[in-house]
Amino acid sequence: MPSETPHKQQIARAFSQAAATYDTAAVLQREVGSRLLAMLEARFSDGLRGKTILDIGAGSGWFGKEMQARGATVIALDLAEGMLRHTARHRRAAFCLLADAERLPLADNSVDACFSSLAVQWCDLSAAAAEMRRVTRNGGTVAAATVVEGSLHQLGGAWRAADSDAHTNPFLGEAEIRRAFGCFAHTQTETRTHTQTFADLQDLLGSLKNIGANHVGNRENKGLTGKRRWQRFCAAYEALRRPDGLLPLDYRIAYILAGD
Ligand SMILES: C[S@@+](CC[C@H](N)C(=O)[O-])C[C@H]1O[C@@H](n2cnc3c(N)ncnc32)[C@H](O)[C@@H]1O
Repeated sequence: MPSETPHKQQIARAFSQAAATYDTAAVLQREVGSRLLAMLEARFSDGLRGKTILDIGAGSGWFGKEMQARGATVIALDLAEGMLRHTARHRRAAFCLLADAERLPLADNSVDACFSSLAVQWCDLSAAAAEMRRVTRNGGTVAAATVVEGSLHQLGGAWRAADSDAHTNPFLGEAEIRRAFGCFAHTQTETRTHTQTFADLQDLLGSLKNIGANHVGNRENKGLTGKRRWQRFCAAYEALRRPDGLLPLDYRIAYILAGD
């Protein structure tokens, strides 16, 4: 079992439980992964046909399916066994590996590309980047998308209106992300803001766990136990409701292309 730390076991359990319903809830993931896949495809003049691609943090295998449809051989890798079972059952990869992105069970220079969409925000990014470099053959490409500091700023603002606790941001800054991929000879990063919208706060907070940000959303379970503070949080967030009646939540996503 690769997920030996309690934190990683928790991630693996949470995603395994979500496997059956993941595809219908993964709106942001679909948007980000599609963009990342287009970027990866553009890197190969002859397309993905015949390429061996490692999908790191493959989840339900949605993008494995897309890459297979383009003629690639896909290896799906994830910490969550439930996700891999779903991928295997729907034949969304040629091989499934239960493993940690920080320790890839693959030989050096064994794949043409690594693809990783919205998974490495849970990892030691430098360790994951070094592993992607090790397994990718020279001339190959690594395409990764991850969540950047400054994401969920509406949540941070609403919590600040509710209490005076320090509100830490769990995500790395752009400079740290670039540094982590500094092991590659060439790196190109681009950060874009994606705005998700929700009918109510319950849906909004519920969506956070799919992206690894639920400890921000669940603050009411820790410091924010008081009803009044919760009400202040809700009122502050409700003040952000847009003219179309929806509540916004911004994610800043870094798209990284790297290679040697
Ligand atoms: C938000 S989902 C994204 C899934 C897929 N890439 C997509 O875009 O639909 C994140 C996935 O990363 C996996 N994950 C998290 N930490 C990981 C790690 N250290 N190694 C491998 N997979 C990990 C989770 O189990 C989960 O399936």
